[in-house]
Amino acid sequence: MIEVFNEDTTIREIIATYPQTRSVFEKFGIDYCCGGLKDLRTVSEEKKISLETLRAELKDAFQITSSDKQKVKDWSKENLSELADYIENNHHGFMKKQIPELKDLMVKVTRVHGDRHGKIFAYLNLVLDSFWVEIWEHMLKEEHVLFPYIRNLETYSLEKGEKPLPPYGTVANIIRHMERYEHANAGQTLLDIREYTENYLLPSDACYSFKALYDGLQSLEKDLHEHIHLENNILFPGTIELEKNCQII
Ligand SMILES: [Fe+2]
Ligand SMILES: [Fe+2]
Repeated sequence: MIEVFNEDTTIREIIATYPQTRSVFEKFGIDYCCGGLKDLRTVSEEKKISLETLRAELKDAFQITSSDKQKVKDWSKENLSELADYIENNHHGFMKKQIPELKDLMVKVTRVHGDRHGKIFAYLNLVLDSFWVEIWEHMLKEEHVLFPYIRNLETYSLEKGEKPLPPYGTVANIIRHMERYEHANAGQTLLDIREYTENYLLPSDACYSFKALYDGLQSLEKDLHEHIHLENNILFPGTIELEKNCQII
């Protein structure tokens, strides 16, 4: 099974089959959510990490977690409705709580450090405001349009419900838009913040609240990666396949 870690295997295939390998992609800053269609060779070249190192780390992560130290749920084996519920309750729930808290923290930090680090707070404020508006609309679309359709589709596939009407002609249309624009933009914003803050490098005079702000932004980034990974690599392809199998259109 480790043969899956060969140079032509895509990140999406690896992480969907072995979710415990996520820590390796996080460690090397490899985009496993929006960039999941790249293969190992491409990311090794882009990140200047040898294929041998990457493969060895992936194998280690697989073996450690396989020996039951950190069980990670394999969502590719669960039904789609359960995954949609999980994403809505956990990742959407986290985002709805985390962003307002970060905004409050930003006000506090700006009050204390605004005179010396005003430029960075002005940038973060602006970026976080537009990120919040965009991600909020995106989550609402998932919660009110896409996820209900997925639940109805799955019920229909079990011959328990009526044939659902796909949003936007076919579900592939809305999914394509979400992946290419909405998820990609959200992922890029977090990359921009990382670059602007020089990988969340704290100034020497940073207080506890400043550190809490950077920690919070990094938690947001980590959670968003996992969130988009579950959608792009498992929920979305599974839904497109199920819609085809059910001959909805
Ligand atoms: Fe989502
Ligand atoms: Fe999403």
